[in-house]
Amino acid sequence: MKKPKITVIGAGNVGATTAHRLSEGHLGDVVLVDVLEGVPQGKALDLYQAAPVVHHDCMLVGANDYEATAGSDIIVMTAGLARKPGMSRDDLQDANAKIVAECISRSVRKSRDSIIIMVTNPLDVMCEVARRVSGFPRERVIGMAGILDTARMRAFIAMEMGVSTDSVFALVLGGHGDSMVPLPRYTTVSGVPVTELLSKERLDAIVQRTAQGGGEIVKLLKTGSAYYAPAAGVYEMVDSIIRDRKKILPCAVYLQGEFGLKDVFVGVPCKLGAEGMEGVFQPKLSAEEKALLHKSAGDVAAQIGKLPADLGKN
Ligand code: APR
Repeated sequence: MKKPKITVIGAGNVGATTAHRLSEGHLGDVVLVDVLEGVPQGKALDLYQAAPVVHHDCMLVGANDYEATAGSDIIVMTAGLARKPGMSRDDLQDANAKIVAECISRSVRKSRDSIIIMVTNPLDVMCEVARRVSGFPRERVIGMAGILDTARMRAFIAMEMGVSTDSVFALVLGGHGDSMVPLPRYTTVSGVPVTELLSKERLDAIVQRTAQGGGEIVKLLKTGSAYYAPAAGVYEMVDSIIRDRKKILPCAVYLQGEFGLKDVFVGVPCKLGAEGMEGVFQPKLSAEEKALLHKSAGDVAAQIGKLPADLGKN
C-alpha cells in the first residue's frame, strides 16, 4: 500500500514542527511548502537527515510551488502571520485571508480529494476561507484549535492537582478566541468531574487561563506564537484520519444545525476518520453553556461577515 502523502504549507515554526512530528510519527511522506526560497528545502532536508538516526522511512521534500504536492491525502495549512504581543488573532484576518485563499486554491488544484486541516489564525474564519476557496464539503475542511484549547486546560488541571496529564480529560467548545467555552462540567480526572475535585475559585482561575489561549505564550516569546502544542494537535488529527481511528476530538467544524447553529465554523467534538470529519458528537449543554457557545459562534460569524464577498468566486 502507498504511504500517505501530507502537504504542510508554511515552513515556519508551526509548519516545520508539524513536519517533524508527522515524519517521526511515521504518518506519511511530507512536502513542505513556503514562499521563502531555500527555507522549506533546507528544513525538509534537515528533517530527512534525522531519519537514519530516529528510524523512520518517511520522505520529506521542500518546495516553493505546488507541483511536488500533487496527489496529497492531507493538506495542513499553517502559512500566514503569527501574533505579536498586543495583537489578537482577529488582527491577522485581512492579511491571512489573502494568504490562505492563495495557498488553498493552488494546493487543492493539485489534490482534489485531499482533506484540509487548517491552523492559520484567526482559525475559524480561515476555515471558512478554505471552505469557500476549495469548494470542498465540510467533511474535508477541519480546523485544529479545540485539541489545543483542551490540551491547555488539561495541562493546567494536571499542574494544579499534581497528576499526570494522561488522567485529565477536558472539553472546550466554541471559537478559537477570547469567547471560547471551557466546560468544567465535562472535565474529569480519571472519570471524576473536576467540579468535585477543585474549589470553584481554583477552577475559575483555570478556566480563565485556558480562555486566554496562547496569549501568555505570545507575551513570553515576544517574537511569535505557540507552536509545539499546536503541532501536537495537528499530529493527533492526522493520526486519527490516516489510521482511521475515529477518535472524538474537538475541532472547528462547519455546523449544519448541530447545537442549533448553522453555516458557521466553531469548535465542537467530532469523529475523525478516513473520510475526514465523520460526524459531530453532541453532548447535552445547559442553557448557560449553550448561550455561551452561541455567543462565541456569533463572534465568529461577525468576523466571517467582514470577509470579501467575492472570496472563492473566481
Ligand atoms: N505561501 C507559503 N508560505 C507563506 C505564505 C504564502 N503565501 N505567506 C507566508 N508564508 C510562510 C512564511 O514565509 C513563514 O515561513 O508562513 C510561515 C509562517 O511561519 P511563522 O512566521 O513561523 O508563523 P507560525 O508560528 O508558524 O504560525 C503560522 O499558524 O498558529 C498559527 O497564528 C499562527 O497564523 C499563524 C500560523
